[in-house]
Amino acid sequence: MKIAIIGGGPAGLYSAILLKKQRPEAEITVYERNRADDTFGFGVVFSDATLDNFEKYDAPSYRRITEQFAYWDDIAVHFRGTVHRVGGNGFCGCSRRTLLLILQERARELGVTLLFEADIEDEARFADADLVVLSDGINSRFRDKYIEHFQPEIDLRSNKFAWMGSTRPLDAFTFIFQETEWGPFIAHAYQYEMGHSTWIFETDPETFKRAGLEGLDERQSADRMAEIFGWFLEGHPLLINRSMWRNFPMIRSKRWVRDNMVLLGDAKATAHFSIGSGTKLAMEDAIALADAMHRAPTVEAALQDYETGRREEVEKTQHAADVSLVWFEHVDRFWDFDPVQFAFGVMTRAKAITYDNLTLRAPGFVAEVDQAFARQVRARGFDVDVDKPLAPMFQPLKLREMTIPNRAVVSPMCMYSAKDGVPGDFHLVHYGSRAIGGAGLIFTEMTCVGRDARITPGCAGLWNDEQQAAWRRIVDFVHANSAAKIALQLGHAGRKGATKLMWDGMDRPLEQGGWDVISASPIPYFPDSQVPREMDRAAMDAVKAAFVQAAERGEACGFDMLELHCAHGYLLASFISPLTNTRTDAYGGSLANRLRFPLEVFEALRAAWPAHKPMSVRISATDWAEGGITGDDAVAIARAFAEAGVDLVDVSTGQTVRDAQPIYGRMFQTPFSEQVRNEARVATMCVGNITTADQVNTILAAGRADLVALGRPHLVDPAFTLKAAAWYGADDVFCPPQYQPGREQIFRNSVRDRQDFEDLKIKAKPKTRAELKAEATKPLAAE
Ligand SMILES: Cc1cc2nc3c(=O)[nH]c(=O)nc-3n(C[C@H](O)[C@H](O)[C@H](O)COP(=O)(O)OP(=O)(O)OC[C@H]3O[C@@H](n4cnc5c(N)ncnc54)[C@H](O)[C@@H]3O)c2cc1C
Ligand SMILES: Cc1cc2nc3c(=O)[nH]c(=O)nc-3n(C[C@H](O)[C@H](O)[C@H](O)COP(=O)(O)O)c2cc1C
Repeated sequence: MKIAIIGGGPAGLYSAILLKKQRPEAEITVYERNRADDTFGFGVVFSDATLDNFEKYDAPSYRRITEQFAYWDDIAVHFRGTVHRVGGNGFCGCSRRTLLLILQERARELGVTLLFEADIEDEARFADADLVVLSDGINSRFRDKYIEHFQPEIDLRSNKFAWMGSTRPLDAFTFIFQETEWGPFIAHAYQYEMGHSTWIFETDPETFKRAGLEGLDERQSADRMAEIFGWFLEGHPLLINRSMWRNFPMIRSKRWVRDNMVLLGDAKATAHFSIGSGTKLAMEDAIALADAMHRAPTVEAALQDYETGRREEVEKTQHAADVSLVWFEHVDRFWDFDPVQFAFGVMTRAKAITYDNLTLRAPGFVAEVDQAFARQVRARGFDVDVDKPLAPMFQPLKLREMTIPNRAVVSPMCMYSAKDGVPGDFHLVHYGSRAIGGAGLIFTEMTCVGRDARITPGCAGLWNDEQQAAWRRIVDFVHANSAAKIALQLGHAGRKGATKLMWDGMDRPLEQGGWDVISASPIPYFPDSQVPREMDRAAMDAVKAAFVQAAERGEACGFDMLELHCAHGYLLASFISPLTNTRTDAYGGSLANRLRFPLEVFEALRAAWPAHKPMSVRISATDWAEGGITGDDAVAIARAFAEAGVDLVDVSTGQTVRDAQPIYGRMFQTPFSEQVRNEARVATMCVGNITTADQVNTILAAGRADLVALGRPHLVDPAFTLKAAAWYGADDVFCPPQYQPGREQIFRNSVRDRQDFEDLKIKAKPKTRAELKAEATKPLAAE
């Protein structure tokens, strides 16, 4: 077999090694345009888990690599004169040059031919090769040559960054967030060998310009960085090696394989440097290719196997990198945070690290985070313990005169079980049991303001006395038997109305017994859905009056809070999104125009709703669709409602158009809540695939929301909050006297269960290489 590898970076060299081990008879040549030892960059980092993989696949190179590595366990965050260190991270670094020399040596040893100063212009010269590996890096000539086939998508990120080096020793992966007269600068720095550290500097494009970095050469810009970070460099110089400022290209390719050619490493996909995974991805691609070549009977089958088998893992890493890079791009959102809360945000930015998992590794740090959170709550007038505070989830929140005892919320969820809009026994038990279960705030399902405002025939409403009496019974029960507050969500289905019950076909039009639907514009939801009537001014007045009447009935029921549903493509949302509003009058066109009617309804409600009771608005912060609402629009929408007197923005997403492309995942809507909260400076509630109390605490502690709503988790677990309270020892969570014995038991058992769980976790965690190295070099204690 003949294999040609274009590009002698980590991907090319490691695939040469693994393929040659597998097929010693194969003729494998690596073509590299540079000389053997001239390489850009300074250090590379790997996690312990990546190193374990290297050990499995090629022990000799693993041994040589690890002999050269610098290990560290701590991440240190420097911000506004403070340093927070968190241990147990298990990373190591080595010089990129050393890594490449080790891989070259190993490849040669195995019989791979390495040709340097061989710049390949055209792959036609490899017509006789069975396999051509395109590992030619981020600017891949061959990916671009077959651009139509590989279909790369290159997202050039806004921040500027430059890779430099220093002789400054470092004993932790170090993030420095530095305020300057021009704006914030960030340094990501780590030591990769004795006396050498990598320094990646990052800043936003405006700060870059203001700092006069445009037009400076490498040396001059390094000098500017040395001035800014001089206090930390302690006289050590900054080193340069192709240290130009650039914008990071996030690359994703639709296809990775063309005939017998395959893209590997940066050529096919990149991952932002802030999660240190570029070299890891490149080498793990080589592993995946070698595995596929081992398994599959033909090269063609192997390449298909590589592409399908590897994609999910690469996309997961890219997603984590995306989330991380966005955090760094918007660091200004957190700039006025308490430093410990800021550091907690840095640690938890990419979702893998959470509140509970930091409690295990760095209990002192988490205690400090809890204290900072409790101090903020105390500053708002609550007499909470700030020395030994409860976890953030169990801290109270006040909106106007309403106090919510904890931050866990039952999200609004249609039960499709009302008869003529009247909530029945099912609803009483449903809302009642969730209130008894300890949630701080319960939202009703979307409660419709008129018969024709319903989504389905099973939707609840509040337009007549019978409905009012039924809701009153529920509200009274909640108030009499729990500490929960209860909010009424009012809505109008708009073009998504007259549809079937969820279990008969969500959003599908009713075949019989439907009613006429209205919307901002006459655009049906499905092609075969009813075409809605475009609302005229009279229809708007009628809808507004219906909302006001329902709110007045809500007040008569005793609800504590009112939410206006402006999300998920229903009537008011249909005005806000440009995808569903094509009007040419004063209610269409610009965002301000599209917001006009929803704001008018909100203002009418605000005037009718008692001034001491809070109001929220639920929005879709993105439509997940081309040309639709984006996170930036959501900030503008939140600002407009805040000006109109909203107390809380309930940040949901999507469901506007049926061909949306949401990116699901754990806590997937939380970034929008974070953006709205910290840019529009308004209290937010986040929701969406948040399933554990650990996630609730992580979100709150990092300042990404003020309340956390859980929908589906509450459907199967009414006592979600009470159980979490037992786990975190929050013993002031309300429990009705009838349930006290159960409460005492779970609180007692939880102490032991938690201890057992933590012991197991600690036992199951392998020692990091840094810990093992520290143990091996520790002087023996005197006998
Ligand atoms: C300045 C800098 C510093 C970095 N530091 C880190 C870090 O600290 N940690 C980390 O994990 N990642 C780091 N990265 C990212 C990391 O280098 C890449 O993710 C990783 O090297 C990808 O490996 P690769 O083999 O796919 O590509 P590369 O390492 O880019 O290798 C591609 C090789 O192909 C060669 N080549 C290109 N075209 C041709 C051609 N036509 N003919 C012959 N040869 C060709 C190039 O000369 C190059 O040697 C850094 C990147 C840069 C630019
Ligand atoms: C069965 C069901 C009914 C829902 N009904 C409503 C509703 O009436 N009003 C609303 O704003 N959101 C509604 N939603 C959305 C939820 O409030 C919540 O935002 C969504 O389920 C995501 O949160 P989760 O992952 O915690 O379930 C509903 C969701 C489900 C699953």
